[in-house]
Amino acid sequence: MVFVCKEAAATIITMMSATKKRLKIAAVVTIVLGLIYLLRFLNNTSLISRSSTSGQQQEEEQQRQWPPTENVQQRNLQLAYEEQHALFEAQQLEMKHTKEQLVHLEEQIRSLQASTPRKYPKVKYLNYKNRKRILITGGAGFVGSHLVDDLMIQGHEIIVVDNFFTGRKRNVEHWLGHENFELIHHDIVNPLFIEIDEIYHLASPASPPHYMYNPVKTIKTNTMGTINVLGLAKRVMAKVLIASTSEVYGDPTVHPQPETYWGHVNPIGPRACYDEGKRVSETLSYAYAKQEKVQVRVARIFNTYGPRMHMNDGRVVSNFILQALRNETITVYGNGKQTRSFQYVSDLVDGMIALMASNYTQPVNLGNPVEQSIEEFAQIIKQLVGGPSEIKQTKAMEDDPQRRKPDITRAKTLLKWEPKVPLETGLMKTISYFRNELARSDRFQENSKKYFESPDLQRSRP
Ligand SMILES: NC(=O)c1ccc[n+]([C@@H]2O[C@H](COP(=O)([O-])OP(=O)(O)OC[C@H]3O[C@@H](n4cnc5c(N)ncnc54)[C@H](O)[C@@H]3O)[C@@H](O)[C@H]2O)c1
Repeated sequence: MVFVCKEAAATIITMMSATKKRLKIAAVVTIVLGLIYLLRFLNNTSLISRSSTSGQQQEEEQQRQWPPTENVQQRNLQLAYEEQHALFEAQQLEMKHTKEQLVHLEEQIRSLQASTPRKYPKVKYLNYKNRKRILITGGAGFVGSHLVDDLMIQGHEIIVVDNFFTGRKRNVEHWLGHENFELIHHDIVNPLFIEIDEIYHLASPASPPHYMYNPVKTIKTNTMGTINVLGLAKRVMAKVLIASTSEVYGDPTVHPQPETYWGHVNPIGPRACYDEGKRVSETLSYAYAKQEKVQVRVARIFNTYGPRMHMNDGRVVSNFILQALRNETITVYGNGKQTRSFQYVSDLVDGMIALMASNYTQPVNLGNPVEQSIEEFAQIIKQLVGGPSEIKQTKAMEDDPQRRKPDITRAKTLLKWEPKVPLETGLMKTISYFRNELARSDRFQENSKKYFESPDLQRSRP
């Protein structure tokens, strides 16, 4: 503008030096030129402002458009992604925080458990002189766990060694953490080095389905396992009680069976791994007694029953009770005329403890001399359980002994021991145990079915 005015002034001055007419024309031209410049200037300014307003309008227009243009879509996506990402990060942080809290809580629970004394069955206090350190191999099994209970209550220190083949931690869990109790997971086929005063050697599968499952292992347990136990007893000068069996008599030809009877065993039959294994176990015991002066006791145990028996034991007591509880047919192998005698587990434990405490070194029968035919026994179980189960005969088992009845004169005279628990009382306790176990396993099955059918699990499957 200044430049325009200056230009106009210069023109006027030039004109002034010309004629008056020329001066007038120059003035008019100058004014016209000035006006043109002014108009141009004003026009330019209004154009700029008009173009910026139209840019904003365009953007707004674009935003209002639907469906959005590609750019808008991308931006929206970007915004949504950023929002989700922020949410995810916040959740991760929260999860980390929750995990930390959980670890802290677990630690607190552990320390609380450690400081809260657990409720154990009452045990007697024995002073150092009278308290023995007792090793029970197979102590998590049926008989072993009852022996643990009795010896713990008497106030002794108990070490259980078990490979949990047929035993369960649950059988001795009520002692876990007690200062007098220790549980070692160990296979007795391997040597063991501990300091003890007495050993009850029970480690061995005991029922036909279990000992036939791996016959070679059954023989190893009863031979190498017994050598390890006797070797340990020799090293630490401990007294050993070997849990032998009435099976050493095989299918007996003498009734009732006294300890002096040498037996009638098929050395290559399906039961041989157990029968011959136990016979070697006895032989080894007397060899160590003679050669190494180890103090040995041998209990020849007859059929025993009671709570904590294995559900898949496969023997007559558990078979009949479970069949009756499930309202299934009670199956009797063969004609049912074969006989058995059943002792309740607490009677056996009393007998074993009495034998260990005695000075008697020859084998002793521990069993109930009350003989029962299998057919009669099936009737008793059916009656005690109740329910609609029928009794039916099925194919006889190979090498199934026809008669089994202990002569317990030795135990009676030397140990002042004989079974006390009547069959009905013992059976009622056993039936109630199996009823609870069945309910427990039904509950477990139901819960696992629920779990496997849960929509969450289905969803997480690929
Ligand atoms: N229950 C009876 O009617 C009966 C009759 C005669 C003899 N016995 C003898 O009494 C003992 C105990 O019998 P149970 O009825 O309690 O049987 P069980 O099967 O309940 O107990 C045997 C225990 O030994 C453990 N075991 C097996 N092999 C082992 C190994 N290699 N190392 C460490 N642990 C091992 C098992 O896990 C189990 O805890 C056995 O030696 C058995 O031969 C029992």
